[in-house]
Amino acid sequence: MENILEIKDLVKTYGNRTVLDGINLTVKEKEVISILGSSGSGKSTLLRCINLLEEPTQAKIYFHNKDIIKNHTKPEEYRQKVGMVFQNFNLFDNLTVLDNCTISPIKILGIDKEKATKKAIHYLKKVGMDRFINARPKHLSGGQKQRVAIARALCMEPEILLFDEPTSALDPEMVTEVLNTMTDLAKDGMTMLVVTHEMNFARDVSTRVIFLDQGKIIEDNNSHDFFYNQQNERIKEFIK
Ligand SMILES: Nc1ncnc2c1ncn2[C@@H]1O[C@H](COP(=O)(O)OP(=O)(O)OP(=O)(O)O)[C@@H](O)[C@H]1O
Ligand SMILES: [Mg+2]
Repeated sequence: MENILEIKDLVKTYGNRTVLDGINLTVKEKEVISILGSSGSGKSTLLRCINLLEEPTQAKIYFHNKDIIKNHTKPEEYRQKVGMVFQNFNLFDNLTVLDNCTISPIKILGIDKEKATKKAIHYLKKVGMDRFINARPKHLSGGQKQRVAIARALCMEPEILLFDEPTSALDPEMVTEVLNTMTDLAKDGMTMLVVTHEMNFARDVSTRVIFLDQGKIIEDNNSHDFFYNQQNERIKEFIK
């Protein structure tokens, strides 16, 4: 499989604090990578640097072998290809479910309304939320909101999706429906980078697991060996 994303020597500092300390990471098409690590290890910052919500202090980032920093690629253009799903959904509360899904394709991609609507309904069906097109986010459960947020991200036709703890804000009974949706996406061949504390997802769905510690990747392994042949005592403790 071809490389989608190549991160070289990514450093992020805040003041004199180094939060990401020389991250190297290559993502191939269709890989599903879970990113694990304790609180403050830099997981969210890594995702935010990858889609340029945060400016890396130093890094080379290649998207399909193109250096997006050196070539001054417009961040918005690049970000269309690199979708993001947040812990707290970040839906537009004043818009209906349908409008949440069509606004960016219409405004940013310039797709006409009819086509954007068709596409939105297609992806809302995929996440099981097509019955709710006229609802406002405040009338939805957390799990439903997160599934809408995933559909909204898919409507931009991203090549890779980044998830930052997509189930952490959910009541336990809603975690499964979101994880099932993500599992379906993985089966469809979506390339995914997932910051998560869901060990079952990391073990059974992701192909690869990365462990971050104080801004460094201290392990990068296939998920089977990560969980079943783990040598690092601290990581063993973490995944227990
Ligand atoms: N805008 C910022 N300014 C200063 N420090 C920041 C900023 N954003 C993050 N940090 C610091 O960077 C470190 C890494 O934060 P980050 O949010 O990436 O960790 P995390 O692994 O996602 O943690 P969690 O599991 O709690 O979400 C933390 O110590 C945090 O305080
Ligand atoms: Mg975080």
